[in-house]
Amino acid sequence: MAARPGPVYWLGKDTLRVSAALFAENRRRLCHGLRAKEGLVAGSMVVLQGGEQRQRYCTDTDILFRQESFFHWAFGVTEADCFGSINVDTGKSILFVPKLHESYATWMGEIHPKEHFKEKYAVDEVQYTCDIADVLSNLKPAVLLTLRGQNTDSWSICREASFEGISRFQVNNTLLHPVIVECRLIKTDMELEVLRYTNKISSEAHKVLMKHVKPGQKEYEMESLFQHYCSTRGGMRHTSYTCICGTGNNSSVLHYGHAGAPNDKTIEDGDMCLFDMGGEYYCYSSDITCSFPANGKFTPDQKGIYEAVLKSSRTVMAAIKPGVMWTDMHRLADRVHLEELLKIGILKGSVEDMLKVHLGSVFMPHGLGHLLGIDVHDVGGYPEGTERVNEPGLKSLRMGRPVQERMVLTVEPGIYFIDHLLDQALADPAQNCFINNQVLARFRGFGGVRIEDDIAVTANGIELLTCVPRTVEEVEACMADSEKPFSPIISSEKF
Ligand code: GLY
Ligand code: MN
Ligand code: MN
Repeated sequence: MAARPGPVYWLGKDTLRVSAALFAENRRRLCHGLRAKEGLVAGSMVVLQGGEQRQRYCTDTDILFRQESFFHWAFGVTEADCFGSINVDTGKSILFVPKLHESYATWMGEIHPKEHFKEKYAVDEVQYTCDIADVLSNLKPAVLLTLRGQNTDSWSICREASFEGISRFQVNNTLLHPVIVECRLIKTDMELEVLRYTNKISSEAHKVLMKHVKPGQKEYEMESLFQHYCSTRGGMRHTSYTCICGTGNNSSVLHYGHAGAPNDKTIEDGDMCLFDMGGEYYCYSSDITCSFPANGKFTPDQKGIYEAVLKSSRTVMAAIKPGVMWTDMHRLADRVHLEELLKIGILKGSVEDMLKVHLGSVFMPHGLGHLLGIDVHDVGGYPEGTERVNEPGLKSLRMGRPVQERMVLTVEPGIYFIDHLLDQALADPAQNCFINNQVLARFRGFGGVRIEDDIAVTANGIELLTCVPRTVEEVEACMADSEKPFSPIISSEKF
């Protein structure tokens, strides 16, 4: 008899099928990692709390739910308000789901029995969250391992599992976090498959934007087109982060697109566009930036800056392999930027001397790139004992450890003309001696260029996951291509 395929997450059409085996493998790896850990006692049980359904402020309007990332990594459960436990010795998993009031059936739909969730997620057992203390108590765990630890990008402490009756148990909240973070750092084949898919769909969406963008449109139309493509073609209900659609000078605002600057400028002829957007599928991210001229044709200055960034991107990618320090890759990008800005004439003097005064960070104040996975800025960048380098630019780097096979990272060098950073540099005698202010003046208001690709580290190099036009010739050819396979209604009128 043919083996029955296990449950899969699939949104139909051409969307990706993701097997529940992905999460079973993650749980296995977690138990394996924990068992190797000094201090683990026999009979330990991991308890994770999933994300909660929340409402807008004091209203009854639900905020669109997205699963908590650690819980997703371990269980792949899309519903809110769940818990999960894993017996570290045996690997046995229990999913706890809310026992829903009968009014749920009126307002929200069918109330599924426990068996439904057992089949859907291929866990060993399903129980109700209201019974969690009793169910766990019957299993007599020696200790519950709960998740407490700091996110090294946001500095937030993750929320530890908590339920009525937990005081009956012995709890250890320090052991689990470093182990699960190290597991999330290294992607399995099944996880890489999902990240290839998120990159494929998001790359296609960026190409659609390149073909559609025209002076006169609004930045938010590009945001909406990206989301529309990712949703329609990719089954992606979420993006991995707030869409950044900066044009003109806004392309120098690193995290443009927030509520105070909501992608609301009209795109002008002559603007550079910097579109940084990534679709998310089944909680796996992508993070891609394309930079190009709004009118489809690079000016000599735009070409100069763009090719400087492309050179650093490709130089860094050629150097990445297991064992290299990520901080060195950041320094390499800085060096290429300074060499190229010297050739363009914005800088003068010795690149070695410029590096000593951190001139690179005036033009690239952010880090070269970061880990990517279930979170766009994925966990694991600074394990205990790895310190940040407290230098301009490098202090913003989200990973400070050597590169390892199966890490997924962004490579996102950029050159930006940010007035307040340029003014600071011009006021600093240690830096202004390298700046040719007359040439620099021409680039005030230029904005910026970022080229951001996602890569998976292989045994001796990288696999490039992102697939978008990158050379000036490729970008111009794509933008000139009149074939528009995806044609939603987009206004081209000025307003
Ligand atoms: N889009 C956020 C980042 O590039 O890190
Ligand atoms: Mn990005
Ligand atoms: Mn990024």
